[in-house]
Formats: sequence, C-alpha cells, structure tokens
Amino acid sequence: VWKSAYNCWLQYSDIKDHSRVQEYKKVCSNLVILDQSAIIDSAKEELEKGLFSMLGETPTISYEPQKKASIVLATYDQRTIKEYGVDYEDCNILNDDGYMIQSFDYQGDKAVLLLGKTDKGILYAAFHLLRLIQMSKDINNLTIFENPKNQIRMINHWDNMLGDIERGYSGNSIFYDQNEFTHDVDRIKDYARYLSSVGINSLSINNVNVHQVESKLITKELLPHVAEIADIFRSYGINTYLSVNYASPIEIGDLNTADPLDSEVQAWWSEKVAEIYEYIPDFGGFIVKADSEHRPGPFTYGRNHADGANLLGRALEPFGGIVFWRCFVYDCLQDWRDRKTDRAKAAYDHFKQLDGEFLDNVILQIKNGPMDFQVREPVSPLFGSLKQTNQVLEFQVAQEYTGQQKDLCFLVPQWKEVLDFDTYSEGKGSTVKSIVNGSKYPFQYSGITAVSNIGNDLNWTGNTLAQANFYGYGRLIWDTELSAEEISDEWVRLTFGHDEQVVEEVNQMLLNSWQIYENYTSPLGVGWMINPGHHYGPNIEGYEYSKWGTYHFSDCLGTGVNRTVKNGTGYSGQYYPENAEIYESLETCPDELLLFFHHVSYTHRLKSGETVIQHIYNTHFLGVEQVENMKARWEQLKDKIDTYRYENVLDRFTMQLENAIEWRDRINTYFYRHSGIPDEKKRTIY
Ligand code: GCU
Repeated sequence: VWKSAYNCWLQYSDIKDHSRVQEYKKVCSNLVILDQSAIIDSAKEELEKGLFSMLGETPTISYEPQKKASIVLATYDQRTIKEYGVDYEDCNILNDDGYMIQSFDYQGDKAVLLLGKTDKGILYAAFHLLRLIQMSKDINNLTIFENPKNQIRMINHWDNMLGDIERGYSGNSIFYDQNEFTHDVDRIKDYARYLSSVGINSLSINNVNVHQVESKLITKELLPHVAEIADIFRSYGINTYLSVNYASPIEIGDLNTADPLDSEVQAWWSEKVAEIYEYIPDFGGFIVKADSEHRPGPFTYGRNHADGANLLGRALEPFGGIVFWRCFVYDCLQDWRDRKTDRAKAAYDHFKQLDGEFLDNVILQIKNGPMDFQVREPVSPLFGSLKQTNQVLEFQVAQEYTGQQKDLCFLVPQWKEVLDFDTYSEGKGSTVKSIVNGSKYPFQYSGITAVSNIGNDLNWTGNTLAQANFYGYGRLIWDTELSAEEISDEWVRLTFGHDEQVVEEVNQMLLNSWQIYENYTSPLGVGWMINPGHHYGPNIEGYEYSKWGTYHFSDCLGTGVNRTVKNGTGYSGQYYPENAEIYESLETCPDELLLFFHHVSYTHRLKSGETVIQHIYNTHFLGVEQVENMKARWEQLKDKIDTYRYENVLDRFTMQLENAIEWRDRINTYFYRHSGIPDEKKRTIY
C-alpha cells in the first residue's frame, strides 16, 4: 500500500489505453545498446523496469544494431551515424549533458534513438522517454533536442551524522544514523534514480554546518564510506561533494591555525585533497559556510573570503575539483538601536568588492534573497553585481519558513519569479536566469543549487504533495522556460495518474498554495514573524526581541522596515537604478514587498486600493478560508487516491488548517491592538 508513496513520480503504472499499449509495445520490445558504461547500465535497468511495469513486457537486449523495431541507446559516434544516418550538424548543438530523441523508420520498422552527447545524456533521454509513455504521449514521431539550461544542477543535504537533518521535515537522514553510515544501498540508489530522472548532476551529502564528527568525513576512517555513496551516485551521473569545516587543519589536523596565507595550512589542504581523490577519483569538491552563524572562517586571521576560498580552490585545482563558497555571511547578533546595520545588506557588502578575486574553480553560492528563504523577499542584489565571479543561485526546497512540509507550499512559482527577475546589470533583459546559466557573463562554472527536502520517511518528503517541490526544482533548473503549470501538470499525472478530477484539483492546489501560505503568514514582504529557532507557526515579536534580531518595527503608528537610501538602511541602493528607484519610492514599490522596503502607517493605501491594515485582515481571513477549501476538495478525492497517500495528505491539511487559524488570529489581534483600527467587515478578531 505504501509503494505508491515511496515511488514518487516514477510510478510506472500500467497504461490503461489499450491502443496506446499496442503502439508502445511495437517500439519498446527491444533495447539495442551501442555503448557501455555504468551510467548506460542504469539507463538500461530503468527502461527494463519501467517498460515491464507499464507494458507488462520486458524488452530483449542486444548490443548490436538489430533490424527490427527497437529503442536504441547510443552516444554520438561513427557507428550511429552510419547505422541510423544521424546528422552531425544536428548533434553539434548538444552540450555535455544534452540528448536527442529521434523516431526513425528503420528498415521498415520503428525505432527510437536515445542519443546522448555522453552517456549521461542517454540516461536523461531514457527517463524522458519513460515520462512520455507514462504521460500517454505519442512516441512514433519524436524529434526532441534537450540541453539543460544550467550546467550545475545541484542538491545540498543538511544531514548530520547523528541522523538528524537540519531543517529536515521528512524523517532522518538516508545516509547516516547514530554517527555511522546507514549503508542503505537500495534506498540511496532509489534516491539517485529520482535525482537523475529530473536531471540533477551534483550532490553534497552533509550539512553546511560541519560539526565535530562530520569534520572527519574527509579522513581515512570515513572516506571509504563516502566513496561507497559516491559509487552509487556516479552510476546516475551525479558527482558527490562534501561540506567541510573551514578550521579542519586545526580540528582534524595538528596545526594551530587555519590562516589561508600560512604555508603549512596550504600544504595541509593539498595533502588532504590528494588523499580524498585516492578514494574518490571524481570527487566533486567542497561546500563551505565560513564566518557565518558562528562557523569559523578567514576573518579570524584578518583575511578576506577570497583568501579563504582560494586556499581550497588551489588545493582542489590539480584534480578538477571545485569549491562552493557560500555568501550567507552576516552579523547574526543585532542591536535594535542600530538602524544602519541591516542583514539584507550583508552579502552584497562582503562579496561585491571581491568580484574578480576568486580562482577559476571557486563558485560563490548566493541565496535567492538577501535574508533567508522567506515566503516573500526581493531577489539578492548580488545577482548582476558580480560579473567576474562564478556563481550559483541557492534555493531551499526544504520548506523551512514556508510550512515545513506540513503546510502545502509549491515553490516553483516563487522560483520562477526569482529566475525571471531583471537585474538590469547590462540594461533590460539581464535576468537572473541568464546570469546563473552563464550566458550573460562568461563564467567557467555556474548553475543552481538547493537545500534538499527529503529524508527517510516512507514518502521521502513528509507531505506527499511536497514531492512536487523536489520534482519541480529539478525540472525547472533543467529548463527554466517551463511554466509552473506545465511542471505541476506533469508531476500530478506522473504521480497520481490521469483522472481528470484529480489532475485538475491537485494542479489548482499546488499552483495556488504559495499565495495561500503568504495570505495567512507574514504580510507584504516583511517576513520573520515565525517562531524563532524552529521556524514553524506564528510568533510576531519572536525575532523582534531576540538577539538574532530581524525586525519589523511595528508600533501603534505603523509597521515595516525602512530600507531606503533616503532615510533608511540604504539597502535599496544595492540594486541597479531601474530597480533601486522602484523600491526606493513608496509610489512604485510593489505591494507585496512594501513592508520589506518601507515603514508605513496602517492607513497607507496599497495599489490594490486597500489600506495596509485592511489588507492584513482580509488576507488572513481569506487564507484560512482557502485552506479550508483545499482540505474539503482533497476530501472529494478520497475514492480516487490510494489510502496511504490520501490519509497522509489529509493529515497534513488538518495540521495546515490549525496552523493557518493560529496565524490568522495572532496576526489580526496583534495588528488590531497596535493600530486600534477595527476590521471594516467586523469579523471576529480576538
Ligand atoms: C538558515 C537556517 C539554518 C542554516 C542557515 C544556512 O539560517 O535556519 O539552519 O544553517 O540558514 O543557510 O547556513
């Protein structure tokens, strides 16, 4: 009963439409495999598994061209050109992870060629073909060229070796338990399948906060176990990375400094890296969180972040490894009297001045917003400001501030807004996606990474509907032109099948869920009204009176953070003029970010025509109604969804409703008491 939850979007349910089945069987009864590698073996295994499950027949396998209908797996080479007449010009446009799927009339029979530039492309093409079949699409007339838009397509795990996951909402780690490795090869392999089915090619497997035990992941004792995990992922075209402790030379070496300019420190890292590559010849490299939230870093030695990152880059360079250096650097201890220090400004202030100072194999990792994965925040002004520095954008698939996989919050629409945001760094059309995909500036490395939302829960993601964020993340960063609607529709059909009512209802739930979550939580971009520490549920002044202060400055006169250049923290000046002017002015600042940029009175009128206070009441009453409505609509689907998944999601909606009610009531009461202005519609405010 639980298999459907475990299998995510790779259900491979049998195809109901019989004429389609006949059509598919004609093409799919033979696999012809013209190259060999571990990755191609994975493609073969997946096709065998998927085709058997959907069509009830296992295909025969041959390693030479067959004069009959078949699925042909090949990389582009002389043999495929000769046998199938593939046009070189066509294939020239494929990049290293790209592929072509082409239908052929082959000696009177049907063939589908899955042609990769490399073996990875073959694997991606195999998943694509399986997806088409599961979606009941025609496969007799295919001409598909796919190149991933982003070169680095990564997931970061925040797993600790004890087994817990920082900001994990789906059980414990699949990699570690009680400071040991789980060696749960089957589960890890299934995870690799999901990752590569949506095109992920890089994975870091431990928390960016590298504590004592995890610091040892790069020692001889633990590297063989890391290598075992890397072997599994390698067969799915995924490179393995580790987060490392910047102070490793002290923590696990016998030096008393980690100064990046110290020659002993440099030698230590070089030897360490050489040792890692003995165990894992294609090791990806390091993720580093330094000088952030009490983690060690180069500041201790009076050095800057380029010194720190380049130290590691230099050690990794001979082996082709890379460093992801995180820009999440800010002073986490705030004083409410100090109106100039602004966390939002920190990443830009630290890193902008270092543009061009980093080695070629160092990549800066920049969170999508200047704060921390809030339901709404502006786009980080570092995008567009760093023109000579490799960079990746960091999203959070884990719903830390967006309902923790209890509440439904499909994040693809949010991510799309970020990717489509125009930075104006080179005038109009300098979108974030064109920067991180490396087309705007000639970066050696670039792409997108994100914090994972999976754990060892049976359904991987706690809330089964949160699987859509994992799927959607991979699909979107492969092709940033896909719409949220397309991605959602694919996911629903692959996950739940094609019943029209299910498809329509679940699509609507997903697509509206971000807006709904925003409606009942922090209003108008102000963020942070969650409980400090664990970050679930409302606590309006929780961070207002915490030493990790992140303020909204609400009082009886008004609310919001003044981040203008004119008389605020000056944050809005970090953008290019086109955006800076929009945010700076009350007249043009978009409603949804108003309180992020401005402190206003409760009677200030939004562009929508409502006052701020009435908007707060309206959205909070509405948000709860919307959750009630979603839950009721889910209940209508009872007979159409298997019990396990049905009950799982129903439980989550029940929790979400409780949460939404609490948010509504606390927010409304808080602002009513502060403003003294009653709700125009006279609804109950406690
Ligand atoms: C957030 C999150 C932390 C995490 C940090 C980071 O602050 O709450 O758990 O360590 O981001 O991204 O490093």
